[in-house]
Amino acid sequence: MASKRVEELISSMSLEEKLGEMTQLAPFFFGVDESMDLTGPMAELGLQEEDIKYIGSTLNSFGAEKNIAMQKKHMAEQPHGIPLLFMADVIHGFRTIFPIPLAMGCSFQPAACEKAAEVAAKESTAAGIQLTFAPMADLVRDPRWGRVMESPGEDPYLNARMTEAAVKGFQGEDPREKGRMAACVKHFAGYGAAEGGRDYNTVDLSDGILREFYLPAYHAGIDAGAKMVMTSFNIMNRIPAGASKMLFDQILRKEWGFTGTVISDFAAANETIIHGYAKDGAEAAQRYIQAGCDIEMMSSHYIHHGKELLEQGKLSMEEIDRSVRHILTLKEELGLFENPFKDADPEAEKALALCDEHRAAARDVARKSVVLLKNEGVLPLDSKKKGLKIGLAGPFATSRNVLGGWAGTGSHVSTLEMGMQEMFPDAELVTAMTEELGAMQEGIFDVEDRVEETCKALRNCDVILAAVGENPMDTGEAASRTCLRLSPNQEKLLYELHKLGKPVVMILFSGRPLEIRPVLPYADAVVQAWFLGTEAGTALADILSGAYNPSGRLSISFPQTVGQIPVYYNHYRTGRPLGSAEGRYVSRYLDCPNEPLFPFGYGLSYARYQYSGFQVAVDQDGILTKVTVENISNTAGVETVQCYTHDLAGSVVRPVMELKAFQQVELAPHQKQGVTFRITREMLRFPNDRSEFVFEPGEFEIMVGHSSSEVLTGKVSLDA
Ligand code: NOJ
Repeated sequence: MASKRVEELISSMSLEEKLGEMTQLAPFFFGVDESMDLTGPMAELGLQEEDIKYIGSTLNSFGAEKNIAMQKKHMAEQPHGIPLLFMADVIHGFRTIFPIPLAMGCSFQPAACEKAAEVAAKESTAAGIQLTFAPMADLVRDPRWGRVMESPGEDPYLNARMTEAAVKGFQGEDPREKGRMAACVKHFAGYGAAEGGRDYNTVDLSDGILREFYLPAYHAGIDAGAKMVMTSFNIMNRIPAGASKMLFDQILRKEWGFTGTVISDFAAANETIIHGYAKDGAEAAQRYIQAGCDIEMMSSHYIHHGKELLEQGKLSMEEIDRSVRHILTLKEELGLFENPFKDADPEAEKALALCDEHRAAARDVARKSVVLLKNEGVLPLDSKKKGLKIGLAGPFATSRNVLGGWAGTGSHVSTLEMGMQEMFPDAELVTAMTEELGAMQEGIFDVEDRVEETCKALRNCDVILAAVGENPMDTGEAASRTCLRLSPNQEKLLYELHKLGKPVVMILFSGRPLEIRPVLPYADAVVQAWFLGTEAGTALADILSGAYNPSGRLSISFPQTVGQIPVYYNHYRTGRPLGSAEGRYVSRYLDCPNEPLFPFGYGLSYARYQYSGFQVAVDQDGILTKVTVENISNTAGVETVQCYTHDLAGSVVRPVMELKAFQQVELAPHQKQGVTFRITREMLRFPNDRSEFVFEPGEFEIMVGHSSSEVLTGKVSLDA
C-alpha cells in the first residue's frame, strides 16, 4: 500500500495520465531545445504533442536551468501537476570524472567506489538530475564485450561489494537528502553473458550459474536499497529479459522483496517484437507490463496499446495501477511533490563541478584503480633526480581522450604529460608519435607509421613511457571486438623502443583486458591505466613516481589469447583437470596454457609482502583463519589480502575457488599485521539443484594470499 497522496492521485488520474507516467522520453520530445525538429522522433514513436504532457520522466537532460524550466512547463500542463522525474546515465562521475567502473573494481575498495558515487551525485543533482542509471552490476567474463568497462569485474562477491557501495554513495541514507539521488541497478539480468562477447547477443545461462555467479551483485544492490532496476536487452531462458516473469516477478519481487520501480532499457520493450517474442506492439506492452516493467523507456507501446489491452481484458487496471504506484512512490520518496526541482541549482552546479575537493577525490580513486602488472626494477622513477630524460610516446601520452565512455559532461583532463610535468619538474620530457589513435568504428585503425623517427627522437632518454591502448570509442556499449591486440603500429612501436635498450614502461589505456602477451617481452614495466578520468595524468604520475605505491588488483582475468575467452578464476571443476592424468586426454589447450596471463586478484606493489603464521580453525560460528602479513621492504604499501574457499564435494559441482572476503592493510616498512577472516556457514551457501541456497557440511579448503594464484591453503571439516 502506498501513501494516501499516491493512492488519491491514482484514483483520480485518467488512463492517459497513467500510461504517460509509465513512459520515459528523451528531452527533445519536450521541446526544450528549440533548434530540434520535434516531428522526427515524435513521428517515429507515433506520439502527438498532446501525449507529452502526461509523460512521467525523461533521460539525460542535463543542466539546472534547463531542467527547472522544463519542470515548470511540464507541471503547468500535467493535469495533476505531477512532476517529471529526471534520470540520467551518471556512471563514473558527472563533471569530475572518476575511473571507469572496471578500474574502480580493481581498487578492491568499496569505499572508493562509494566516494565516486557520492561526488557524482553531488555534481549531477545540482545539475537537475534526480536518478542515475547506475550501478551496472553485470558480471563479466568476456573482454570482447565492450561493456566490461562498466562492470566491476568477474567475481560475484567483489561485484556485490562494489555495487552496494555505489548504491550507498548515490543514495546516502535517504535519496531525498540534498546531494543524493536514487540509484538504478542494471541490467537485470545476465547481460554480461552475451555469446561471443557480441553486444545484445543471445544469453544462455542455467539457473544454477545465474544464481551462483550472475545474480549476487544485483541482489546486493537491492539489499542496499536501490530504488530502481533496469531490464536488460538479452534473453533469459529464451524470453526477452524484461518480459521474464521469472526474473522480475519471481526473483526480484517475490524472492528478494524489491518494492521499487522497474524501467526498461532503451526501447527494449519494442525489441520484444524484433526478437520475435511479441507479435506486435500490443503484445509487447502486455508482456512487459505483466512481467512488472513499470516504465517503458523510449518506445511507446504502453501509450498506444494500454487502452485496447484493458478493453480486451488482456490487462487489468490493477496491473497498470501497480506500476503507477511504484513510480509515484519513487517521486514521493525523492521529495518531488514538495520540491520538484530537488537540488537543481545553477549556482551550486557551477561551484561543485570540478571543484578542488572533487578532483582530489578523483585523483585518489584513480591511483587506487591502477594495476601494476610487471616491474623489472624500473619503477618507481625518481622524481627528484635532476636532468632525468623521460621519453613519452604513444597515442595516450598527451591525449585528453582518457575519460572513458559515459563521460559526456566531463571537460577538464589532466593528461599523462601534464601529470609528469607537475611531478617531475626537474626532468626533461621528450614526446614523440603522440598522435591520437583512430576509432575502429570510424574506419581509422592507426596513426601513420612514424616509429623510426620516434625511436630516433627517444634514443637518448633514460626511460621511455609508451602510452598505448585502445581508443575509448572502441570500448563500451556496442563496441565488441574479436581482436584484443594493440594496433600493429603500437606493437611495432613497443618492439622498436625495446631495441633501443632503454627501460620501457608500457602504460596501457583500455576499457577491457587487452591481449598483451605478444608485447609483454618488450616492456620492462607494465602499468594498467584503464581510463582513469579527469585526474588520469596526476594519478599516473603518483604511481610512476612512487608518490603512491600501487595497490590495485585485477578484478578481471587477462587472457593469454582471445581463444582462451572466457577465462576466469572461479570456474567449476572438470572431470579431467590439467595434471590429473598423464597424456593427452585432459582439459587443456594444445597451444596455450589454461591459466590466464594475469589472474584475478593479481597486482604488484613497490613493497614486498610476506605471509606467515597461517592458521585455520573451526568453531561454532564457522571457520576462522589467521595470517600475518609483513612488509619486508623499505617502502610503505597497501596489501590486499584475499580469502578464498573451495568446497571439496557438494550436491552440485563447486568452483575451484571462490572469493569470500578481502581486507586491505596499510603497512609501513617492515611492519607486520595479523589479518583475520571469519567464514560463516551462511557465507558458504550455494544454490543447489532446486535453486535453494544451502549450506552443505563437509570439507573445505581455505586459501589466503596475495592473488587468486598465490595463496596459502588449509583444510577443515565443517558440520551442519
Ligand atoms: C542503453 C544502455 O544499455 C543503458 O545502460 C543506459 O542506461 C540506457 N541506454 C540509457 O541511456
